[in-house]
Amino acid sequence: MAAFIVLPFLVLLLASSSLSVNIDFTYNGFKSATNLSLDGYAGITSNGVLQLTNDTSKVTGHAFFSSPIQMLRNTRSMTPTTISFSTIFVFDIITARKVGGHGLAFAVAPTKTLRGGCCRYLGLLNSSNNGNSSNHVFAIEFDTIPKSSMLVDIHENEVGVDINSIVPNISITTSYYANNSKTVNFKLESGQPIQTWINYDGVAKILNVTVAPFSVGKPSRPLISLPIDLSPILKKYMYVGFSSSTGEISSSHYILGWSFRANGMARSLDLSHLPLPPQPMKDSPTSKFSRIKIGVISSIAMLLLVALAFFVSWHLRQRAKLAETLEDWELDYPHRFAYKDLYKATKGFKETELLGSGGFGLVYKGTLPCSGEEVAVKKISSNSRQGVREFVAEVVCLGRMRHRNLVQLQGWCKRNEELLLVYELMPNGSLDTFLFEGEKCGLLSWDQRFKILKGVALGLLYLHEEWEQVVVHRDIKSSNVLLDADMNGRLGDFGLARLYDRGKNPHTTLMVGTFGYIAPEVSRTGKPMASSDVFAYGILLLEVACGRRPIQHDAPMEQLLLKDWVRECKMRGQILEAVDPKLGESYVKEEVDLVLKLGLVCSQSIPEVRPTMRQVIQYLNRDDSLADDVALVFSEADFLDLASLNSYLSSIATVSSSSLSGGRCERVR
Ligand SMILES: *[C@@H]1O[C@H](CO)[C@@H](O)[C@H](O)[C@H]1NC(C)=O
Ligand SMILES: *[C@@H]1O[C@H](CO)[C@@H](O)[C@H](O)[C@H]1NC(C)=O
Ligand SMILES: *[C@@H]1O[C@H](CO)[C@@H](O)[C@H](O)[C@H]1NC(C)=O
Ligand SMILES: *[C@@H]1O[C@H](CO)[C@@H](O)[C@H](O)[C@H]1NC(C)=O
Ligand SMILES: *[C@@H]1O[C@H](CO)[C@@H](O)[C@H](O)[C@H]1NC(C)=O
Ligand SMILES: *[C@@H]1O[C@H](CO)[C@@H](O)[C@H](O)[C@H]1NC(C)=O
Ligand SMILES: *[C@@H]1O[C@H](CO)[C@@H](O)[C@H](O)[C@H]1NC(C)=O
Repeated sequence: MAAFIVLPFLVLLLASSSLSVNIDFTYNGFKSATNLSLDGYAGITSNGVLQLTNDTSKVTGHAFFSSPIQMLRNTRSMTPTTISFSTIFVFDIITARKVGGHGLAFAVAPTKTLRGGCCRYLGLLNSSNNGNSSNHVFAIEFDTIPKSSMLVDIHENEVGVDINSIVPNISITTSYYANNSKTVNFKLESGQPIQTWINYDGVAKILNVTVAPFSVGKPSRPLISLPIDLSPILKKYMYVGFSSSTGEISSSHYILGWSFRANGMARSLDLSHLPLPPQPMKDSPTSKFSRIKIGVISSIAMLLLVALAFFVSWHLRQRAKLAETLEDWELDYPHRFAYKDLYKATKGFKETELLGSGGFGLVYKGTLPCSGEEVAVKKISSNSRQGVREFVAEVVCLGRMRHRNLVQLQGWCKRNEELLLVYELMPNGSLDTFLFEGEKCGLLSWDQRFKILKGVALGLLYLHEEWEQVVVHRDIKSSNVLLDADMNGRLGDFGLARLYDRGKNPHTTLMVGTFGYIAPEVSRTGKPMASSDVFAYGILLLEVACGRRPIQHDAPMEQLLLKDWVRECKMRGQILEAVDPKLGESYVKEEVDLVLKLGLVCSQSIPEVRPTMRQVIQYLNRDDSLADDVALVFSEADFLDLASLNSYLSSIATVSSSSLSGGRCERVR
């Protein structure tokens, strides 16, 4: 009879136990996790961390195991019993600012789609159902924010047990027992992973909750050991999972790993293989400050580095720029300047230091760094390498010339293809600026002009006759006549034309000189002679007396060529008509007359009939009755017709004229 009664009870018992599915799962990370039901802001990060909420404020997130779990046995009896269950999980609360919120909870709920509110409700409950026993919500909460005074919550860093309410039945400051008696507090928001063990003994009706920092391991004594009968709270089938929310202030709530087992102890997590949550850019004031500090320091360092690199490369470039490679022979010639010094003297050949451009290159003003002496530096580009040595030899040779009507050559410098000649600086510049840009420099009086012309003549005489060798200037013109402080005329660039010529090409003689000053035989034969300097000097005499250029392009046709015009005036017996009108009446008639006539005599077409420079000086000094000679020579030359001139020119073209081809300067040292 008893057996009859017991049997159906046993059958019932067996049937009910077969219904209780033994759920047992472990997530060591959530990469490709299945059977999870997520909502709200919950998601799984790329490295497999279950994220319940991100840093967005006032949001909720849920993650529940998708299958229900039978929590109650003997539901048909008067006293249903709760199963035992166990769970282990590791969570991590990452807070970008100093404080975050609000927390998370392990929840046992009748639905996996909880519609709890944000903020203090932790996504579990809401204002309308909070505290209602019909909720059937049981949760272990990890709360980081104090609840408002209305909903009393003492701890802001607490572990609590919630029963149908977000006001926990019990809450304890987050801590763990070390050595069974001593509690060690720790922060939920430390950013470090925290491990939690929740065990419920359905028979003894005891809930144990243990939390500890990930690194500590399981403490032997649980933090909370609460005798509680869950059977009135839970329903038969319940869902387990996590709920979380943020408020005005927020945190990212992460679950790194989770294991659960109904009717047994949950498996331990493989701690070493759990994924780690993404670390935020810490943006607390201190870290921001230090970031700024680091940024500032590193950018200053960077700047300094760049500046240093720039300086070094500039320095190296500068050194390379100023470097000279000396050939052995260069050391043999005296008066050599270092390129570096000339570079410094002319401020790096700056445009503002440019004095002018001569026939052979640009002329810069400079101040020598050591002596402070003012010089003019002429930069000549030679196109031929092989000529350079000879060039230097001759330049040095010319440097030995000393005459007060020559611009003194002080030295030279060779760098690559470039030759630099250093002259003494003539403070008053060149004659042509005075003659043709008188408004700029002031008018040259007749006395000054006469003195200048005499000086140039003396300088030219020195070149032609008084130095060791004959030197033909080849480029006599007003712009090559320089004026020193006392307004003495001094010849510059002497010998350069010939040197330049030679430097360029030793085999062909190029015609050098300046249009308007070139004697006809030079343009014919290309052979420069002292008499062709006399021709150019004659043109210079006319130029200075008339204050006009040898070829005046804007003049009326008959006045185009200065020489022709003066001659025409002479023929008409009105030679003084040609005088520079700027002089007005303030000139010495006899001297002007002499200069103009001498100019015509010197610029005669046939070289043989031109006077020598010595004679020219005698005329200028009116030593004796040479004025008649001048007239005589002049009249002879004056009536040469063009035909006889041409026949003469063709005759000398074939003659090798070696007599006055210019002095050679081989013996240098
Ligand atoms: C997930 O559910 C499927 C059936 O829906 C089951 O086969 C599987 O074992 C479950 N996974 C876990 C981890 O429980
Ligand atoms: C939080 O997640 C939402 C949706 O996934 C996204 O739109 C938002 O940008 C995220 N916010 C932060 C701060 O990560
Ligand atoms: C509160 O939660 C309950 C249960 O999830 C739901 O039915 C109700 O609509 C929610 N109320 C509000 C205001 O969200
Ligand atoms: C609790 O909830 C039930 C159903 O949701 C409702 O009928 C009851 O009035 C609520 N009780 C309180 C005290 O709010
Ligand atoms: C909550 O705790 C109070 C004592 O603080 C106790 O009287 C009450 O029964 C507890 N509630 C539950 C559901 O255990
Ligand atoms: C626990 O006790 C051991 C000795 O029994 C001691 O070495 C250890 O420091 C103690 N730990 C703490 C956290 O007090
Ligand atoms: C709960 O903790 C108490 C005290 O440490 C212990 O005696 C008991 O065995 C624990 N129960 C479970 C299920 O862990």
